[in-house]
Amino acid sequence: MGVQISPSILSADFTDLAADVARIAPAADWVHVDVMDNHFVPNLTIGLPVVERLAEVSDLPLDVHLMIADVDRWAPDYADAGAGSVTFHVEASTAPVRLARTLREHGVRAGMALRPATAIEPYADLLAELDMLLLMTVEPGFGGQAFLDLVLPKIRAARELVKGRDLDLWIQVDGGVAAETVERCAEAGADVFVAGSAVYGADDPAAAVEGLRQQAAAATAGSWWGRP
Ligand code: DX5
Ligand code: ZN
Repeated sequence: MGVQISPSILSADFTDLAADVARIAPAADWVHVDVMDNHFVPNLTIGLPVVERLAEVSDLPLDVHLMIADVDRWAPDYADAGAGSVTFHVEASTAPVRLARTLREHGVRAGMALRPATAIEPYADLLAELDMLLLMTVEPGFGGQAFLDLVLPKIRAARELVKGRDLDLWIQVDGGVAAETVERCAEAGADVFVAGSAVYGADDPAAAVEGLRQQAAAATAGSWWGRP
């Protein structure tokens, strides 16, 4: 699939989301939608009605990142709301394998997210149930936080698992991804890049997306895992 960029509208204008999605549409692969419930994370954003409407107006598929409790109950509704990909936090799920299968049955890509302190190894055997693994590079909850380098070995470990088992699994990074950090993520093994403040804080968000894509592609080409 190659490098994909999924700008986060957490840093967009919440009173004018349709216009801010349109600004990235020419350059981005997905729109990353951060759903927070003020319970799993200490912040509150948007829910089902807004996601349903975004799916109607967006030219890009929605990459929905659920930072909510009781996610086994709610995630399928986000699939039915028109998302293209739905990612749940493993820390919030009681039955991640069942939930991943349910999401696929509802016609979306199934994603599973890990907070920075959650190890990948206990979940190695369920990776084949997933379409995407999201490795948080900040503690979830807010945009504009500093990138956590301590997650880089986990990105590499995830890429080793994917390569070793020849899995068709995307590895997404989210949090503090910007011109200064995107290359480290790509070199370690990430192939889907979420960026909020680095895109919407730029004068030209579409150009910022293109810049990140070029940096990531070049870093991947020169990396341990991207070389042919
Ligand atoms: C944080 C969210 C991120 C956030 C990233 O919990 O999941 O998607 O928007 O924002 P930046 O790119 O500013 O770190
Ligand atoms: Zn996110």
